[in-house]
Amino acid sequence: MSDIALAVIGGTGLYRLADLRDIETHEPDTRFGRPSGPLRVGYLGAHRVAFLARHGEGHSVPPHRINYRANLSALQAIGARRVLALNTVGGITARFGPRALACPDQLIDYTWGRVSTVCEEGGEVLHVDFGEPYTASLRNDVLAAAATTGTPLVDFGCYGATQGPRLETRAEIARMRRDGCDLVGMTGMPEAGLAREMGLDYACLAIVANWAAGAGPQVDEVITLQDVLDNVAAASAHLPGLLGAL
Ligand code: HPA
Repeated sequence: MSDIALAVIGGTGLYRLADLRDIETHEPDTRFGRPSGPLRVGYLGAHRVAFLARHGEGHSVPPHRINYRANLSALQAIGARRVLALNTVGGITARFGPRALACPDQLIDYTWGRVSTVCEEGGEVLHVDFGEPYTASLRNDVLAAAATTGTPLVDFGCYGATQGPRLETRAEIARMRRDGCDLVGMTGMPEAGLAREMGLDYACLAIVANWAAGAGPQVDEVITLQDVLDNVAAASAHLPGLLGAL
């Protein structure tokens, strides 16, 4: 099965791909264990597309317990070569307010204690280049699809990956802003680094669900899950058109 044009990994609030037709389900085991849930493979227009819900379809797997290696390995095993990661994030800097869509071009990893490599003792040690953490050609395709469909998409940004599952303190977000982060999320790493080690093309489409702690106009605003889900649902209205064009 090598005809999968694109694999999409959905984040918080994104548990299925609207418009995916003729869906087959795969429940593979991999050398890294089981992925977060079933792979749904179907058609978007004329193209075969695979979808996987990163947290499981019932959102039961927290960010630090996701088997990122198994997820990517399962997608690779069914023939995926290009992976578009949908990541629900908080916005830190001005261009990245709630409901914005962004295609980041950089990241900083603040996570800890996660299995972050496919290298195992006794095997080959990889030191992959990661200066550009996202695959330029796939990013360009995402930006072109946004332009074709008139989807408002911020074409840059630095994604800061935090450990979670709690949200950040205002001081942590202030530090991330000083570090140069525009966005904050809990699942961007190790996924991007593993994709590079596995030779997969990988890009992130970030969906801004809320202002990160202290980053919005109302500094002491409390972030609620309902706001997060409402904003993701509203911003996701652009996805079918964008993914169709991609
Ligand atoms: N912080 C981290 N991850 C997130 C946030 C946030 O504010 N919003 C959605 N995912």
